[in-house]
Amino acid sequence: MCGIFAYLNHLTPKTRKEVLDFLVNGLKRLEYRGYDSAGIAVDSADGRNVSIIKKNGKVQALQDEIYSREADLAFEATADCHVGIAHTRWATHGTPSERNAHPQRSDDDNTFCLVHNGIITNYKDIKLFLTKKGHTFESETDTEIIAKLMMHIYKKNPNDTFQEIVEQCIQQLEGAFALCIKSKLFPGECVATRRGSPLLVAIKTKTRLATDHIPILYGKDFRPHGGTAAETLTAASLMPRTPSTAEFQPMEEDKQVEYFFASDASAVIEHTNRVIFLEDDDVAAVKDGTLSIHRIRRNMDDPHAREITTIKMEIQQIMKGNYSFFMQKEIFEQPESVVNTMRGRVNFDTQSIVLGGIKEYIPEIKRCRRLMLIACGTSYHSAVATRQLLEELTELPVMVELASDFLDRNTPVFRDDVCFFISQSGETADTLMALRYCKNRGALIVGVTNTVGSSICRESHCGVHINAGPEIGVASTKAYTSQFISLVMFGMVMSEDRISLQQRRRDIMKGLQQLEEQIKEVLKLDSKVQELAKDLYQNKSLLIMGRGYNFATCMEGALKVKELTYMHSEGIMAGELKHGPLALVDETMPVIMIVMRDPVYTKCMNALQQVTARQGQPILICEKGDKDTQEFASRVLEVPHTVDCLQGILTVIPLQLLSYHIAVLKGCNVDCPRNLAKSVTVE
Ligand code: F6R
Repeated sequence: MCGIFAYLNHLTPKTRKEVLDFLVNGLKRLEYRGYDSAGIAVDSADGRNVSIIKKNGKVQALQDEIYSREADLAFEATADCHVGIAHTRWATHGTPSERNAHPQRSDDDNTFCLVHNGIITNYKDIKLFLTKKGHTFESETDTEIIAKLMMHIYKKNPNDTFQEIVEQCIQQLEGAFALCIKSKLFPGECVATRRGSPLLVAIKTKTRLATDHIPILYGKDFRPHGGTAAETLTAASLMPRTPSTAEFQPMEEDKQVEYFFASDASAVIEHTNRVIFLEDDDVAAVKDGTLSIHRIRRNMDDPHAREITTIKMEIQQIMKGNYSFFMQKEIFEQPESVVNTMRGRVNFDTQSIVLGGIKEYIPEIKRCRRLMLIACGTSYHSAVATRQLLEELTELPVMVELASDFLDRNTPVFRDDVCFFISQSGETADTLMALRYCKNRGALIVGVTNTVGSSICRESHCGVHINAGPEIGVASTKAYTSQFISLVMFGMVMSEDRISLQQRRRDIMKGLQQLEEQIKEVLKLDSKVQELAKDLYQNKSLLIMGRGYNFATCMEGALKVKELTYMHSEGIMAGELKHGPLALVDETMPVIMIVMRDPVYTKCMNALQQVTARQGQPILICEKGDKDTQEFASRVLEVPHTVDCLQGILTVIPLQLLSYHIAVLKGCNVDCPRNLAKSVTVE
């Protein structure tokens, strides 16, 4: 997740300082979306070129840099029309650095400069195509290929408009993007488009807007369907261009206007509350102060216009969407974040999975002595959750280790071990020390992190980026489900050629494909979970029991309850119940039990009966429609059925919600629980 922002004024004179301040303030509002580097592109002081300023680190560092160049940037000069684009980055391809920060550009002359939020999954094909055409690349990003592709298209059709160049370009892109583009060839114009990543246009006028919608202009589709990106690039470039046939519609009478493009409304609300939320494949172009929205194709159910919405929200509210806390927002982002983890890696048509970051190492990993999964806290739980599946799919011994304990024991590690270090932040000191310990002993180091460019990323031999987007709430939620999926994908890659596992793999593929919808269904339990929280929040303790694939859910659920609500909570392996924990059970002790129709179902039912026999009143998390099991419960939370090894993704979400609601009821600080930090960089 990155934040993008752009500003354009028309007949509303602004000093360059004002424009630069708008850009920087817009980025500050979006900083929660990513904060490893930031950059802007604005017209150069003489208005004939484009200046790009980028800085590693937070937006403040960019602002300091801009202010240190006050004289070259001609702060006091006033212009009637000025276009600036800006970006705050959360790295997905390429480490955080000025070179990889956005704007990315087409050439040394900054002919096309753009900012991007999303992931281009076919960027390697396009990069190869462009390299063969003589383009050279200066960054490691997927974004740079877009700017260079625009240049390539422009050179083929030099009479095309800016918007037509962008339209042709996005037809070649696969993956997700929101883009704002500025070009030296088209001064005073800005084009923006999206597919899969959010983008809105905001409009500020001196008088009331004369319209509340913008009609869509349609162009003729020239892209032949099917074919790989490289083939369609060639084919598209050979096809004759058909100009847009629709009439150009002026948007409103008032020509004194300012436009803003932004990833979300938090960045624009201090300027205007009139916004248009762009839809996938809309291309919005501003020229001579007029906004037009174009689409290549007309869809059957297209409303033929985009509505100008009036937003009635406070800034803080918008940054968190409709959510009260970042943690709540992150829980509800999971249908999207799990898809982002799989994007460009899982191909459901060919039933194949490619993990680019470890592809070259797979033969070596297959020859290893054992796999070691090493992490702390929630990240450790993702290892526990996937261990059984990894043992099954890789047929290798899998050790799961808490980083601190692993170090305390001076655990023997060998050259032919493969050690995975799982960490949302990529900076956790215990995990990093364990990594160095294993690296010194010659093991292969695989990083699984959410933070490109973090210490764990840099010090690993290879790795998987979980692509969950920045997690702001201290309690980890969406990173857990994305770590879980990343490890499942690894198991799938390792078992690709195992004939005996083909049916199992098909079942897992089907489960992965259904996850987005099933998570949405689980999230609908929210109000029921809130009711449950009202019953539980005054208790001193909460036990969460399960076994097999769902034991990790019990530990993760209990950790969430502890850290957010300060209530004692324990995740109990149901098989251990009669070896001690059963003594805690009576009619007053709240007990949550996870009972799924999986290979340990009968054993879980035994545990359930042991609890009810001691007057326990179990609250069940079980499969939708499993009436037989529900008979033993005082309350039930039903989740959809999926393949056993993915069920933990669906069972953990009600517990994330429960801990959240209990924390709210107890008045705890949800996003920053006491005594805790998001990144634990001390041992
Ligand atoms: C719990 C939580 C922590 C982290 C742990 C490791 O909600 O967030 O337990 O999981 O501190 O952090 P990372 O994954 O950044 O290494």
